[in-house]
Amino acid sequence: MGPGDTVLDCGYGFGDQDILWTRNMKPEKIIGLNITKSQVERARINVADAGLKKSIDLREGSATEMPIENESIDLVVSVESAFHYRTRENFFKEAFRVLRRGGRLVTADILPTTNSGNPFRRIEQWLSWNLVAGKFNIPQENYYLIPSYTNKLSKAGFVHIDIKSIRDDVYKPLHEYLSRNRTFLGKMHPLAKILAQLTLNRSAESVYVGLDYILSYSEKP
Ligand SMILES: C[S@@+](CC[C@H](N)C(=O)[O-])C[C@H]1O[C@@H](n2cnc3c(N)ncnc32)[C@H](O)[C@@H]1O
Repeated sequence: MGPGDTVLDCGYGFGDQDILWTRNMKPEKIIGLNITKSQVERARINVADAGLKKSIDLREGSATEMPIENESIDLVVSVESAFHYRTRENFFKEAFRVLRRGGRLVTADILPTTNSGNPFRRIEQWLSWNLVAGKFNIPQENYYLIPSYTNKLSKAGFVHIDIKSIRDDVYKPLHEYLSRNRTFLGKMHPLAKILAQLTLNRSAESVYVGLDYILSYSEKP
């Protein structure tokens, strides 16, 4: 991302990354698409408070049916969101449509890990994935590994596809951070609090054994 880029951020949450990118990377413009009305409202306030209303245009809409013109975007990004979409493949098709030739698609995304040969480990993986998939509303259609992710990007028309797992840089530090800073537990329902405490008392390796975390890069030829 850099000066001159028109960026589309899909699933922008509260818009924090758009404020950071505008300040640090200075793209021409960031358009955001998010499906959750309450987040759209909050994110717009955050952007206005940051004095960046002219550079960041936050819209309500779906990444799977983008209200965006064909070939009008240089870079589509989706940070920790594409696993929610119904489906991720529909998002790939839409990203391809709105990108200009030479445009890039970059995602930070959550996938399952390859099944272990050890049956006990496989049960742990199944539990780990299903807890997260249930809590974060991940549709079954988005359950596949990196090779299928690559195939689906390729099928949508993307080239120069590069996907790497950064799970070791994500889950362990996250788990350590949450274990050290437990104040968030105070805001939870008592039952959810007990479950969260039990989870934090287990090792990161066991809690996240079913989850991969990837960075993907691809281009529209
Ligand atoms: C885990 S949050 C990530 C938010 C932000 N990108 C971040 O990293 O902090 C997932 C976001 O995806 C959004 N989302 C889910 N389905 C969507 C869809 N079909 N189109 C656009 N946004 C969607 C949710 O509203 C939420 O803001």
